[in-house]
Amino acid sequence: MFHLVYGREGHPITIIKDSHYDQWLSEQSAFVRNWLVHSGFEGKGHRLIPKQDGHLDRVVVVVEDTHSVWQLSDVAKALPKAPFYLEGGSEQLSAAALGWVLGQYQFTEYKAGDDRATLYINDEAVVNNVSALAKGVILTRDLVNTPAGDMMPEQLSMAMQTLAREYDAQFSEIVGDALLAENFPTIHMVGRASDHAPRLLELNWGDESAPKLCLVGKGVCFDSGGLDLKPTAGMRLMKKDMGGGAHVLGLAAVIMAKSLPVRLQVLIPAVENAVSGNAFRPGDIVTTRKGLTVEIDNTDAEGRLVLCDALALADDDQPDLIIDFATLTGAARVALGLEVPGFYSTDDAFASDLMNAGETEEDNVWRLPLHQPYASYMKGSISDLVNSASTGMGGSITAALYLQKFVENSPWVHFDVGAWNDRARPGRPKGGEAMGLRAVFKALEKRYSS
Ligand code: BES
Ligand code: MN
Ligand code: ZN
Repeated sequence: MFHLVYGREGHPITIIKDSHYDQWLSEQSAFVRNWLVHSGFEGKGHRLIPKQDGHLDRVVVVVEDTHSVWQLSDVAKALPKAPFYLEGGSEQLSAAALGWVLGQYQFTEYKAGDDRATLYINDEAVVNNVSALAKGVILTRDLVNTPAGDMMPEQLSMAMQTLAREYDAQFSEIVGDALLAENFPTIHMVGRASDHAPRLLELNWGDESAPKLCLVGKGVCFDSGGLDLKPTAGMRLMKKDMGGGAHVLGLAAVIMAKSLPVRLQVLIPAVENAVSGNAFRPGDIVTTRKGLTVEIDNTDAEGRLVLCDALALADDDQPDLIIDFATLTGAARVALGLEVPGFYSTDDAFASDLMNAGETEEDNVWRLPLHQPYASYMKGSISDLVNSASTGMGGSITAALYLQKFVENSPWVHFDVGAWNDRARPGRPKGGEAMGLRAVFKALEKRYSS
């Protein structure tokens, strides 16, 4: 899956901070100095250094920040397919190796990728830690990148089952009309028009006596908008609308790989928001699992509908913490752009840990307010709630306030993520992306590690 190996083999990589480059150069042999100067290297990026016989000897990389996760990401893509090794303190090694594997990522399910270099690191703990994180992020990216035609609720279910098998977790699901019998009417309503039956997916793992952590992810496998159909441009990327589900599966993978001392529950309402004769309609009123009635103003505000039944279930048990991820609103992207996921939290201490973790892990997140006065925009006239606010202003906040009505008993964090890179940056190729996943894991480690 990725080219990171425990051991000490191959060509050494020397990382130098840019301000130290001239000093370093002056300490090199005449051969190395001449090679770098006359090949036009100006102390930016990387250069291969040959032996006297023309074979590759080593690589020099000049970076701005020797602590950054992304310091080797572009180099990892550009180096020839050969073994390389890196030495250093475990912090720098961890950061550089993570950026290496995330930078080398390619989605190769439908088209072969390029052959890429292998990185050897002679520190087993670093390799294991980095591999656990990278596997989670890559799982999220792969799931988001897979076309909707091959990632319907049944395939998302398979993905959760595969993960459950790998880590000895329990898997269960409620499929199709059984959702009505088990009182998940809102999930069923949104998903019933599709040929691919709606499902509520569930994974449970960990020590029964540990604090319970519940992850909930929006699993809308394709969002056509339903009867209030999305316009062409708005529909184009909607294979990513199960991105929240992909985030919680990726995060669960990291939690289980690193054996975080929690009792983990993962819930994914998995549906396709499709159009057919039995599609739900604007003006329909649904009685949700919790009993609150919701009038459908717009069938394109479907994420909060499937989430509200799953959150109500999560809240029943009063877990120590509920975290949901959802590609919930375009408004969150208008507010923060595509590269900063917004989150809401009813736990101030955890929110502040999250902000800090985002900074240190270079996985930035930003807290948005659960401004209660806006809740009045979600009130119904002939129902308890409507599913779309009477104003478009503050659309991410009104969506979050709707969800909050279904979580009354537990601390709760809600991520409104884009799950997609519109442009490539070092270590973050275009396409599906895990956003805030590493920051959340870091904050969870702090909360639960003894
Ligand atoms: N999945 C979309 C939100 C979305 C759009 C996320 C683009 C990321 C990128 C969601 O189901 C949706 O359609 N939301 C509507 C809500 C509105 C109808 C109240 C939106 O944001 O326009
Ligand atoms: Mn929608
Ligand atoms: Zn959606």
